Amino acid sequence: MQLNVNGQSHELDVEPEMPLLWVLRDELGITGPKYGCGMGLCGACTVHMDGVAIRSCLTPAGQVQGKVTTIEGLGNPAELHFVQQAWVEHQVAQCGYCQSGQIMTAAALLASKPAPTDAEIDAAMSGNLCRCGTYPRIREAVKAASK
Ligand code: FES
Repeated sequence: MQLNVNGQSHELDVEPEMPLLWVLRDELGITGPKYGCGMGLCGACTVHMDGVAIRSCLTPAGQVQGKVTTIEGLGNPAELHFVQQAWVEHQVAQCGYCQSGQIMTAAALLASKPAPTDAEIDAAMSGNLCRCGTYPRIREAVKAASK
């Protein structure tokens, strides 16, 4: 099968039912998306498919339509995506494990809704869990990035 990830096309010999998260991490070595629950409950594995946030742990590779973007393809160290920049400025990350998923969800939200209300931010981010409890800083960073 063929997958486009972060602007690069990959020819892969994997079972179509293999979760996209496994393909990204184990086949392509793209480790920004994290394994948290494997059941679509925590958001650590969030990536974009044509700009829409999806759970890569629940998405069979064979059902991927369109371009996949992971945190590695959102920005780069020399030129951070504006959401990543807001994350740095608001020192959001604590342990950091969930943060790539948080940022991908926030970036998808702001791409579709550039100036969300607090309630819209909370609703959009509610599926991304953070065991360190960085939620207040996450909301502040999303609000800052929306300005
Ligand atoms: Fe995919 Fe938790 S690992 S939602």
